[in-house]
Amino acid sequence: MQDRAITLGEFIIENQRDFPYASGELSQLLSSIKLASKIVTREIRKAGLTDILGASGVENVQGETQMKLDDIANDIFIKALEARGIVCGLASEEMEDYIIFDKEKHVDSKYVVLTDPLDGSSNIDVNVSVGTIFSIFRRVSPVGSPATLEDFLQPGNKQIAAGYVLYGSSTMLVYTTGHGVNGFTLEPSLGTFQLSHPNMIMPVDGKIYSVNTGNYLKFPDGVKNYITYCQDVDSETNRPYTGRYIGSLVSDFHRNLLKGGIYFYPEGTNAPSGKLRLTYECNPLAFIAEQAGGLATDGHQRIMDIQPESLHQRVPFFVGSTNMVKKAMSFLGS
Ligand code: AHG
Ligand code: MN
Ligand code: MN
Repeated sequence: MQDRAITLGEFIIENQRDFPYASGELSQLLSSIKLASKIVTREIRKAGLTDILGASGVENVQGETQMKLDDIANDIFIKALEARGIVCGLASEEMEDYIIFDKEKHVDSKYVVLTDPLDGSSNIDVNVSVGTIFSIFRRVSPVGSPATLEDFLQPGNKQIAAGYVLYGSSTMLVYTTGHGVNGFTLEPSLGTFQLSHPNMIMPVDGKIYSVNTGNYLKFPDGVKNYITYCQDVDSETNRPYTGRYIGSLVSDFHRNLLKGGIYFYPEGTNAPSGKLRLTYECNPLAFIAEQAGGLATDGHQRIMDIQPESLHQRVPFFVGSTNMVKKAMSFLGS
């Protein structure tokens, strides 16, 4: 008989010793994220039935109109992370400011989480994959006091764990604690995540490029030239590359992680820093990419070395297979 697959819960506990602060707390934190992502999965799977684009027309027990799915996902993650006394604060794409958890049970909380609870949400209405992205730091403010902005504005190289959940044709949770990248697929009938993609490695080369070419005319010349390079015919280097762009960052990233490729969202004349947010979109995916052997830059410097200045700071983003990112950077004068 074949060995049964290892579950995410078992994996987290078995690998606890690899965590920088092996107290079991980070295991509990990851378990909270695991639970939240199962609940979000449940909500997403019935999306077409509940009209989550606007008001659903259904009232909850307090007589309030049902929320849109980004708010629902945000709420689910807040509740799951607040429930255990591990996290002292949370920053999210859905909230202007970070929130502080300061109940009695949080008095010893050492961690903060930054998240994009539902990435690619505009794709929900057309039944296309969406994701959740998360980034975990150990707080720098003293334990026992309320979390501060400084806790959230740490550079990505201080992340102690990061990951994403992809609500695709199956739900997958992919994460790293700085010891490689592992992917788990949700077995829907059992409700357990099972290790399906151990030790994920991003191919050093690839032939997929993912960019919104609708913005082509707004891009800097270096980016335009790189796109032309991707489209040029050259059998030696397997060009032209294949263009693939879902418009859901997690899905585009995940495909390129498995198959090899580059995703980029550069600056444009109308968006001087691009669109994607450094702290809860780029940093966590950069950590995963690097741990899988890939690269993530803003076109000039390593994403994880950028000192964030604000919670919702945008940054140009080039992520993917090492040789492809290096090549792109050579076009940008780096
Ligand atoms: P969000 O839904 O969290 O606002 O993020 C959407 C992001 C990302 O998922 C995607 O890669 C990008 O926006 C697509 O943007 P364009 O439509 O401008 O290409
Ligand atoms: Mn997003
Ligand atoms: Mn979002």
